[in-house]
Amino acid sequence: MAVHLLSASRLPVAKSINQNSWEMGGTLVREALERSGLESVDAIYASSMMSGELEGQMHLASLIADEAGLAGVEAMDISAVSASGAAAIRAAYLAIQSGEVNSVAVVGVERMSAGDANPVLRKALHAVRESEKTMVLKNADALAMYLKNHSVQYESFVNFAINAHRNGAKNPLALFQKEVDEAKVVEARIIAEPLRLYDCSPVCDGGACIVLSRSDHKAGDVKLAASACSTDRFVLEDRQDPLDFLAARKSFQKACDSSGRNTPDFKFFEVHDAFNIMACLCLEACGFASKGRGFRLAEDGDIYADGKLPIATMGGLKARGHPIGATALYQAAEIHAQLTETAGANQLPAEKIGPALMQSIGGAGTTLFTHFFEPA
Ligand code: COA
Repeated sequence: MAVHLLSASRLPVAKSINQNSWEMGGTLVREALERSGLESVDAIYASSMMSGELEGQMHLASLIADEAGLAGVEAMDISAVSASGAAAIRAAYLAIQSGEVNSVAVVGVERMSAGDANPVLRKALHAVRESEKTMVLKNADALAMYLKNHSVQYESFVNFAINAHRNGAKNPLALFQKEVDEAKVVEARIIAEPLRLYDCSPVCDGGACIVLSRSDHKAGDVKLAASACSTDRFVLEDRQDPLDFLAARKSFQKACDSSGRNTPDFKFFEVHDAFNIMACLCLEACGFASKGRGFRLAEDGDIYADGKLPIATMGGLKARGHPIGATALYQAAEIHAQLTETAGANQLPAEKIGPALMQSIGGAGTTLFTHFFEPA
């Protein structure tokens, strides 16, 4: 049973959006539905990491259904911290594959500006054993370990930020629409040694939605060709090798096994570049570079829009922004835009219109979702 991605809707990512997340969700579902050519959907799956804590609102999917004028449909909140949107996409994929539903609107919304997002973000980590840590500190530790173990200079990583900002500068929906050069990245303030400002994704608001359907119910131009999830030891330091993103590797492998695709097939990669080190470790886990050499794809310019494997083609988490529960929906919507050649100034060249890879990370490499998309 093929699952098709029919349509998408996105809000401009902003430092602050003056709307409740469920109002954003209702608008996004209506817009995506209108573009899908469907009258309605059988289900709405919603993702948000923080609406309960920062807006005092849980039970979001049903509220979004009502806001969208779709009260009566199946509705569920789906959660996997920073990969919540990808978990919701996977739930929709499984529901459609099972034959239980024909179509699902998957919507992700996040208003990090509604309160102090940092104490909520750290809840992705172990509440007792990592109580002194934050996501920033965990990724700073990982980058420091990588630089030391592989004898790499910090400067070898700057192209991750330069690429994301170059692509973000062309995307009218991106939070940061400004380019940065090497000097700006290197001289930026240190957030947690060795991570500097431009190595981190920002705190921001946003929302996006996609409509998925059984292909025999309503066919579209883009196929969701595989979906997989794997986990690793919860705490990074418990892993045999903390620099081996095992969950990324395993979920990628599972998706390859189910679809018959493999590393050389992919034309571009919407990677989870919440921090530069995450992008690097995902590139290695999916076989685009050997262990300890992922940064070379950045250093050599292979990750640029005209490179061998473009990543973060519309700015990525770094420059488009990372409104947590909405992020994977932006990734999927951007892949839809690339594959339907509607990506505007960010449009990849024709030879790149082919199998596209998307990964989404929950926590410090703990829960990993891999999705493959391709022209239908
Ligand atoms: N990249 C580039 N610029 C950034 C930025 C980022 N990640 N974060 C903030 N800025 C800019 C702001 O736009 C602002 O610029 P302006 O003065 O021109 O308006 C300036 O830096 C100060 O912004 P502010 O919000 O005060 O920065 P901050 O020091 O409080 O936050 C970080 C910076 C990196 C600590 C914050 O963005 C952060 O915590 N990021 C990680 C979030 C996270 O953990 N997400 C989950 C990942 S799984």
